[in-house]
Amino acid sequence: MKELEYLFKNNRQWADRLRSYDPEFFRELAEQQTPEFLWIGCSDSRVPANDIVGLMPGELFVHRNVANLVVHSDINALSVIQFAVDVLKVRHIIVCGHYGCGGVRAAMQQQELGFIDNWLRHIRDVHQQHCGELEQLETHEQRLNRLCELNVMEQVNHVCQTSIVQNAWARGQELSVHGWIYAIEDGHLRDLYLSIDNQQQVHPRYRVFLDEETDSRKATGQQ
Ligand code: CO
Repeated sequence: MKELEYLFKNNRQWADRLRSYDPEFFRELAEQQTPEFLWIGCSDSRVPANDIVGLMPGELFVHRNVANLVVHSDINALSVIQFAVDVLKVRHIIVCGHYGCGGVRAAMQQQELGFIDNWLRHIRDVHQQHCGELEQLETHEQRLNRLCELNVMEQVNHVCQTSIVQNAWARGQELSVHGWIYAIEDGHLRDLYLSIDNQQQVHPRYRVFLDEETDSRKATGQQ
């Protein structure tokens, strides 16, 4: 595969560069990973998780899919969340969307794209839920970007609605879930000021435990 050779060349240069800063870097990394963060972001090639937040290998556990969705029956995303929370014991889960997201844009169109339409349906649901607010906005671009933000907020809620996150809170594990958005135009991250760190912030309909039950679990350290 001659045309891909430059990727291997890049890789060796990258590894040499890291080793020149710290000769033991890869050896130590091979022994364990202790990331504090789980990043749930879009697959978009312009939104590279580690680079955006300046973190090294080993510091960020990452899950990416089209339009950074957390679907309650997606065993891929749920497995990532469970491993991150129960085994790696991350302190923060960051759902990071981005403005101008192609997945969100596609979900706003009345055009068949194929199998992916089934995935994008989840964004259509968010659009439908917030139709009133979105219609107030003047331009398509404004509606698109607001839907990108609303989608992040919805996915933050989905993370918090999982039994995985609620179980972690119930046993007293420190865990916060945040909603952020990235602008490809200037490379800046923006906080959507949505951070959830306990079950009381979850809509009662989606609480896995009664509040008293949570308190008693915490007291006895029960899983
Ligand atoms: Co995207």
